[in-house]
Amino acid sequence: MPDDQPTAHAYHERTLRPDKGRKVCGEAANFGHRVLAPDDAEVEVYLETALRAPSPDRPLADRPGERATRGDSGSSHPDAVVVLDFGSQYAQLIARRIRELNVYSELLPFDTPWSEILSRHPKAIVLSGGPSSVYEENAPHPDAGLWAGDVPTLGICYGLHLMAEALGGEVLAASRREYGPATIQVMEPDGAGVHAGLFAGTPREQPVWMSHGDLIVRVPEGFQPTARTDSTPVAGMADPDRRFYGIQFHPEVVHTPAGREVLRNFVLDIAGARPTWTSANFVESTVSEIRSRVDTHARATGSDGRVICALSGGVDSAVAATLVHRAVGDRLTCIYVDHGLMRKKESELLRATFERNLGMRLVMVDARERFLARLAGVEDPEQKRRIIGDEFIRVFEEEAEKLGRIDFLTQGTLYPDVIESTAPETKAAQKIKTHHNVGGLPKDLRFRLIEPLRYLFKDEVRTVGLALGLPEAMVQRQPFPGPGLAIRIVGEVTKERVDTLREADWIVIDEIKAAGLYRAVWQSFAILTPVRSVGVMGDGRTYANVVAIRAVTSDDGMTADWAKLPYDVLAKISSRIVNEVPGVNRVVYDISSKPPATIEWE
Ligand code: XMP
Repeated sequence: MPDDQPTAHAYHERTLRPDKGRKVCGEAANFGHRVLAPDDAEVEVYLETALRAPSPDRPLADRPGERATRGDSGSSHPDAVVVLDFGSQYAQLIARRIRELNVYSELLPFDTPWSEILSRHPKAIVLSGGPSSVYEENAPHPDAGLWAGDVPTLGICYGLHLMAEALGGEVLAASRREYGPATIQVMEPDGAGVHAGLFAGTPREQPVWMSHGDLIVRVPEGFQPTARTDSTPVAGMADPDRRFYGIQFHPEVVHTPAGREVLRNFVLDIAGARPTWTSANFVESTVSEIRSRVDTHARATGSDGRVICALSGGVDSAVAATLVHRAVGDRLTCIYVDHGLMRKKESELLRATFERNLGMRLVMVDARERFLARLAGVEDPEQKRRIIGDEFIRVFEEEAEKLGRIDFLTQGTLYPDVIESTAPETKAAQKIKTHHNVGGLPKDLRFRLIEPLRYLFKDEVRTVGLALGLPEAMVQRQPFPGPGLAIRIVGEVTKERVDTLREADWIVIDEIKAAGLYRAVWQSFAILTPVRSVGVMGDGRTYANVVAIRAVTSDDGMTADWAKLPYDVLAKISSRIVNEVPGVNRVVYDISSKPPATIEWE
């Protein structure tokens, strides 16, 4: 272990740096006072700090299917669509929509050199929207190689304007900004020439989502307008011979009902990409890539090629570990630190899944006493987080040390983290953060990283998890904070209070699931308040704990609304908690939205 192990203070300092870090539910993981991470990332943050994990040895070739292009496999790489990001808030969504068509899509910064774009062997390119105007000074432009190339290209909104401007058309500021729903009239001829049209199979008049302040007043030579609205004469244009297409509206958002069809027409029919990006293919190629990487390293260094992975109970580490296990079997050891702050049955599910069903080497560390001892007397929420983070590091280090030589550490880094780290802040999307996994780690390599999920979006991780046979309960679970139940007990964390909360929380989850609402709400859980209230049970007076219920709807955890749970579900939860959980005589429902409240109480 490194002897410069950070103190709790140093750890906290590091995680609070505002310019670094992964995102948790859309928020910088180290935002404000949080020692943050989504389900799993919490563990990774600890690990990186504890183990001084290396900046990953990730050659350019470390990309899905790239193995094949290096000539060591008979299979071909997946067809890819490159999305160039000009700063649209929807850029990631475009890539996700394309992947929903089972075509691999990668998001790259707008100024990625043409040679690098070509190295992806793109079947098509999409230019995203963005906040700029093409005629402004310093407006972001792509590498001009794009316009000479013969890769089918679709420009969306700002991307359309770029196309018009670059190829000899004219773009001007509109007298009125068009924002929100609009109706387009499709002018593209039916059965448009060599390729099916962009609008093939969609209504001649259709609702779309617009967001622009500029207009095309003249289309470039070779182009025809393909759609219009009352206020936008060129809401679409095309040069089908060159396979250049542009649209003013956003096909990626749900408010454009035929948007998927338009993207499908472009990606599958016009560009001819093959829909081979499936979970089964991903699992197969990832497993064989991991195996060959570990074997190669082991041969070159004379090691056994051993790998560790921290399991947190969350979906990312579960899926990452399972992929690695398929690749290297017993050379993988998973470590699960049971801090005693997990939800009911969570540790059991983990053991049953990984040890019994999948036959993995699993070290389950019962550290419950240690965590409780350090939390004794602590009431401050941030102090709780610091203690839990610090203790996690200690326990993990002790266990890793016992295992002897380890070559690789598995992490559940996801694609959004990678995207955030590859585009510097100065570029189009102002919100981008550098990801510490990718950019900012020390060079003194202790482990090499295996990050099998670095090309997946969260929903794809879930699909892969299901394809790997992981249980629904593990794959579809709601987010759960790393510090666990400790930050849902307002005041001191004691064994008795954790037990009380765990039972109440279980009832909430149970009833929400029974009502079929588990996936409709973002999170649903119980909080143990420090308040006691008077009640009456049977003939006796009680003076017992008040439990609060929190259920919220949200898209990303950044903002949230309290869920309008049906009264009968609330009634059932309340009566079960009061009847089944000793020491609780009152249940209240939290009806605060975020902001101004947060989702968690601490
Ligand atoms: P808040 O309470 O800030 O939570 O509205 C937003 C999301 O983040 C989760 N959360 C945490 N996750 N460590 C984590 O790994 C933490 O310390 C932490 N605090 C909040 C919370 O559950 C919600 O999904």
